[in-house]
Amino acid sequence: MRETYEFPQEFIWGASTAAHQIEGNNVASDWWAREHAECADLSEPSGDAADSYHRYGEDIRMLADAGLGMYRFSIEWARIEPAEGCFSKAQLLHYRHMIDACHENGIEPMVTLNHMTLPLWLAVKGGWLNDGAVDYFDRYVRYLMPILHDVTWVCTINEPNMVALTRGGTEGSDFVSASLPAPDLDISAALVEAHREARGILSENPRIKSGWTIACQAFHAMPGCEQEMEEYQYPREDYFTEAAAGDDFIGVQAYLRTFIGKDGPVPVPEDAERTLTGWEYFPPALGIAIRHTWNVAGHTPIIVTENGIATADDRRRIDYTFGAIAGMHDAMADGVDVRGYLHWSLLDNYEWGSFAPTFGLACWDKDTFERHPKPSLNWLGMIAKTGVMSR
Ligand code: NOJ
Repeated sequence: MRETYEFPQEFIWGASTAAHQIEGNNVASDWWAREHAECADLSEPSGDAADSYHRYGEDIRMLADAGLGMYRFSIEWARIEPAEGCFSKAQLLHYRHMIDACHENGIEPMVTLNHMTLPLWLAVKGGWLNDGAVDYFDRYVRYLMPILHDVTWVCTINEPNMVALTRGGTEGSDFVSASLPAPDLDISAALVEAHREARGILSENPRIKSGWTIACQAFHAMPGCEQEMEEYQYPREDYFTEAAAGDDFIGVQAYLRTFIGKDGPVPVPEDAERTLTGWEYFPPALGIAIRHTWNVAGHTPIIVTENGIATADDRRRIDYTFGAIAGMHDAMADGVDVRGYLHWSLLDNYEWGSFAPTFGLACWDKDTFERHPKPSLNWLGMIAKTGVMSR
């Protein structure tokens, strides 16, 4: 690795979040129901989370003050349509205010329309497996269009491949993926259809650039298992990546490496360093994922919509991110069209069952919710301001 890496002036630098993980009290969602079910299989409920529902203004200011230029956040369907067919104007305005707050702070918003959760009313009807799911999603997207009039970047569905693996989104986290058997084909088809429909609706506003964001892993074949790796990778990732050909961009979200043996994933080597999610510490995952996505998605422009590390040691976060960004840089030098890098995450957040894996560039006080930027936030902001990453 070199000491210094330079990036184009127009390269986008920012950070990502998702509604359920930071807003708090997302009470009409399937996840909230799961967190409060009698047989809840999670360590803790999301509760107030980071109270970003009320503190988004501070969050966006903090991101802008650090020097970053883009904020990726999600609109929560369960708030917009808490009961079937009942749409909330007040909630729509809430998200409009978030877009305004971005613009007032000179921040480009990137809006995700669906990040893992579903309204509970839809989940109890089978979620994405419901025959009407795509139509419901269309109707929701149409309802959002007026507040997106001056928005450029829109992600339709976050990590459809994780949603398909977990059969509908309620277990949507990377760390469960390795142990899951095979994605559900009906859900996969519904998600691709929902994405295409949404893309059509969004294109009615010529300003909008739309795409979706894929959970990409650096798959690594054990000796002699190259064929098994391809068979494993296609339905879990490449099917969704291929469906992005023709989109304005594809979001790459990469954190880790998965080793594939004769019968699927094998555990990471005993002596490997692990992060707080139990994943291998492997910064090159991002560069590998970017190169793979570029080929599979037919040279669709890439934005890294998530990359980061769960750690209590912020120096390790900086080291990891340095290595990941270096890999991204090298892929760009080899001709891959990468337009931006958004770190996961702006804030420590609810990692689908627990607050323990801390991914944030900033933390917050558990009693007052006061935000405290970590050194990594300013470190990334400096790269954004100067276009140079150095040791
Ligand atoms: C992927 C997901 O989009 C996000 O919700 C999750 O918290 C991070 N990766 C880390 O697992």
